[in-house]
Amino acid sequence: MKPLIELKGVNMVFSKRGSFVRDEKFFHVLKNVNLDIREGEIVALIGESGCGKTTIGKIVTGLLKPTSGEITYEGKNIYALIKLGKEFDDYRRFVQFVQQDSYAALNPVRTIRQSLEAPIMTHYRHDTREQVGAKIDSLLELVGLNPPDQFLSKYPHQLSGGQRQRILLARALSLDPKLIVADEPVSMIDVSLRLTILKLMSDLNRRLHVSFLYITHDLATARYIADNNRIVVMYLGEIMEEGDASEIISNPRHPYTQALIAAIPIPDPEFADLDRELPIKSMEMQSLEHRGKGCPFVPRCPYAGSECTDEIVPVTVGERRIRCARLPHVPVFSTIRPGIVRTGGSNS
Ligand SMILES: Nc1ncnc2c1ncn2[C@@H]1O[C@H](COP(=O)(O)OP(=O)(O)OP(=O)(O)O)[C@@H](O)[C@H]1O
Ligand code: SF4
Ligand SMILES: [Mg+2]
Repeated sequence: MKPLIELKGVNMVFSKRGSFVRDEKFFHVLKNVNLDIREGEIVALIGESGCGKTTIGKIVTGLLKPTSGEITYEGKNIYALIKLGKEFDDYRRFVQFVQQDSYAALNPVRTIRQSLEAPIMTHYRHDTREQVGAKIDSLLELVGLNPPDQFLSKYPHQLSGGQRQRILLARALSLDPKLIVADEPVSMIDVSLRLTILKLMSDLNRRLHVSFLYITHDLATARYIADNNRIVVMYLGEIMEEGDASEIISNPRHPYTQALIAAIPIPDPEFADLDRELPIKSMEMQSLEHRGKGCPFVPRCPYAGSECTDEIVPVTVGERRIRCARLPHVPVFSTIRPGIVRTGGSNS
């Protein structure tokens, strides 16, 4: 599969809000991020709150320009494409962003028909009103809002969270995208509806061959959507582990991924009383602003050693990339069933 989008050595530095101390004005949010998204695949990007996931999503969609590093679309640097006009417009059209808050993403005084019409009429200027109407109907059917007439004259507040997320997907699909960046699309909707939206995204991927970058802090949902695809695990602005989803879930190699998998709840009363010790030294979340040199996981990692404070070069094992300086010292971790862990042996 060819890479559709590639981030190469991307760094993002933000200025600190409200800082009066000159040296403390900036903080490094993304550090040397390398990521590619290929045609027709789903990549799940996982990490805890504030680690830089949305920042990556915005960089991929061209909404944010990185401080340094390169981003290419079909092999071409997107910031060089700006000069080419049409090719940059194509990139902006083919790479769509679906944001977490569907209320904020939809204009509250526009009906669903008006919200869906606008992008189609901008990009397909020669379509007649009838053609635009037919396109909207088929998009609503595609995202499971049937019959379409029932939704067209409604306003966003008259729909449920799950229905609004489907409208956002329909709006993104209206431009025939090659990649949709879906930023926590299910985190604000009822647990009971989450699975249906994830299933819809998987179906759209299969039927339309559209790629997804699925951003989430919930490894359990990532496991569902990235079945047979890839998982990228992030911690404090750096990619820790990346590889085939089922391999990472069944045999996580990085200590942070192991901790994430061990923390997945087990929906089985048989295991309710199980004494579950997480392979992590501290439950306290760290801040990006106080990240030092070397591995950002040092304060929480049970396997940390002196070499972890140097710059860490990722190790490639088969298709897997792991950023850990002490991989041979990290025990093998395998899941007997989700959340029940067995540690021991060597991970080299
Ligand atoms: N425009 C900005 N200016 C300054 N700081 C910013 C800006 N955008 C994001 N940040 C900071 O960058 C860090 C990463 O933010 P980001 O939104 O990418 O995290 P996230 O992983 O998406 O978090 P969440 O899971 O809570 O959505 C945060 O500390 C955030 O406050
Ligand atoms: S580099 Fe060191 S601190 Fe970081 S994950 Fe590996 S062992 Fe832990
Ligand atoms: Mg976010």
